[in-house]
Amino acid sequence: MDEVIRNYDDVIKMLDKLIAEETNIDWDHFYTNRDRKVPFFVDIPDENLVEYMDKGLITSGNVLELGCGPGRNAMYLAEKGCSVDAVDMSEVALQWGRERAKENGINVNYIKKDLFELELEKGVYDLVYDSGCFHHIAPHRRMDYIDLVFSSLKAGGYFALTCFEEGGVLGGATISDLDVYIERSLQVGLGFTPEKLKTIFYNFEEIEIRKMKKVEDNADLFGVEGLWVALFKKAK
Ligand SMILES: C[S@@+](CC[C@H](N)C(=O)[O-])C[C@H]1O[C@@H](n2cnc3c(N)ncnc32)[C@H](O)[C@@H]1O
Repeated sequence: MDEVIRNYDDVIKMLDKLIAEETNIDWDHFYTNRDRKVPFFVDIPDENLVEYMDKGLITSGNVLELGCGPGRNAMYLAEKGCSVDAVDMSEVALQWGRERAKENGINVNYIKKDLFELELEKGVYDLVYDSGCFHHIAPHRRMDYIDLVFSSLKAGGYFALTCFEEGGVLGGATISDLDVYIERSLQVGLGFTPEKLKTIFYNFEEIEIRKMKKVEDNADLFGVEGLWVALFKKAK
């Protein structure tokens, strides 16, 4: 009976299983060695996020961060006066984040959960932020991801995203959604074009989609090539 599809949830779980072997990253293992030269292991915020704040596009309020990792953006937002709920399914990443927050005397509400098992109050967030998580989400989970973002936001709230460029220097996959199921893999992570992002997030108002600006090493901002940064707004 396990392999019988009776409802939408069964379809989703079966597709999870179909691509799991080839695609699932062991995120706890990924974060175990903090000395590895992984670009986003640095404790500095994304350049686009800082720009939105500096321009006053985003001001303090309630923030939900999806796939926060060890919390570099969550901590920046909390430092700026936001009340931050930061979600990740990796306990190892969150433990690192809790240590960082403690060292800096910053308060972040870290939540260990798979995004798709979250039960959050609806319509309470001013900003939903995702830096590098969305491109690891399989296409069949996308509807639930969009529902999560849309329903969490207040009317007029912002959704900001950082994701792989299709065929960019970070290797964002150039495959179609259908190919994901044919290959049973998201490869290193799905790549996007501005057109794809506009199509996927059509129910949001587009504020800007641009390439992430490369920032010199040793700067206090995170900025690398190969990523799109996108800012959307939920209509009032
Ligand atoms: C590339 S890392 C980015 C981490 C962090 N945002 C940063 O930029 O430093 C992607 C993160 O998404 C998390 N993640 C992936 N899929 C997830 C899911 N379904 N639910 C919760 N977290 C998830 C991983 O555990 C990982 O920490």
